[in-house]
Amino acid sequence: MLTPNQIQDIVKQLFAEEQFIREPKALYEPVGYTLDLGGKRLRPTLLLAACDMFGGDWRQAKYAAIGIEVFHNFTLLHDDLMDKSPLRRGKETVYRRWNENTAILSGDTMFAMAYQYFIQQWHPNMEAILKTFVQTAIGVCDGQQYDMNFETQADVSIDEYMKMIELKTAVLLAGALKIGALYANAPQDDIEKLYNAGISIGLAFQLQDDLLDAYGDVKIFGKQTGTDIKDNKKTYLYLRALQIANAEQKHTLQTLFATTPQSPDKKIQTVLDIYRQTDIHTHVEKEIDRLFEQGQHQINEIGVDNSKKETILQMTNQLLGRNK
Ligand code: IPE
Ligand code: IPE
Ligand code: MG
Ligand code: MG
Ligand code: MG
Repeated sequence: MLTPNQIQDIVKQLFAEEQFIREPKALYEPVGYTLDLGGKRLRPTLLLAACDMFGGDWRQAKYAAIGIEVFHNFTLLHDDLMDKSPLRRGKETVYRRWNENTAILSGDTMFAMAYQYFIQQWHPNMEAILKTFVQTAIGVCDGQQYDMNFETQADVSIDEYMKMIELKTAVLLAGALKIGALYANAPQDDIEKLYNAGISIGLAFQLQDDLLDAYGDVKIFGKQTGTDIKDNKKTYLYLRALQIANAEQKHTLQTLFATTPQSPDKKIQTVLDIYRQTDIHTHVEKEIDRLFEQGQHQINEIGVDNSKKETILQMTNQLLGRNK
């Protein structure tokens, strides 16, 4: 069985060998720029780990691993434009460095390139693999639309928010795991358990991203902080704060999240003050822990030897910045 380090090295190597820049340069340079910046490469890593866990050969799944990461990077190009985010992986975002049209078309091309990678190497389960990929991609777009809708929708419930992040983020992590398992011909019920684990871990991952958007260190996070507040994103932090806040704090939050000031610094500071007063950090951490435990439990239910689950379990730990 491959260790997390071995899988990370394989993924690193796969991307080092891939040349993304070709003609016309104006279309492909932003593709190479984004993909060469790396990021955590979680989705291909999870995909190959799932394949390996069920005794599959990672070499059969390698193009799908590249494809899923190219797809993820496409969503980032469009997401940064939609969220008006200046920084990604510590560098200027594509729409800022080039322009909006570039982010749109290079992103679209990456979506098509993702399919090209998937179909590069045939596999007996290709139909199920592609169906999973298509469902995943549509899910992400559905989620992204709810995310945008909620910017201007005043009354978002926690349930609605959880459903939205399940779509925009968790289905891609879960889909990567499922696709990896399909390459290994894993049994249907185990695939389902792994998928559900991916959803739980993916929800925890997005809650952590929301937390980092408020409190992260830009140098490590690589993205500008405070953008969710600036964009009136009704995140878990905001929605839990509304539940805990007193009448005055609640009024302030609701008022601020219905405005888009030219300079958002004061708005961000006031919201962060209320988050601190309501100890939102602790509440979100608690929910992350709960979802994480749920995910670990779902992995433990899978019908392969416990020793084979070690790599995936360790990866989910790393993904949420834990080391136990
Ligand atoms: C960013 O994903 C989008 C979210 C779902 C929060 P990652 O945090 O995996 O970003 P990279 O690929 O490591 O840059
Ligand atoms: C992540 O949403 C889901 C995507 C579809 C990219 P975010 O908007 O929170 O992602 P970041 O924080 O910009 O990476
Ligand atoms: Mg964003
Ligand atoms: Mg977004
Ligand atoms: Mg975010």
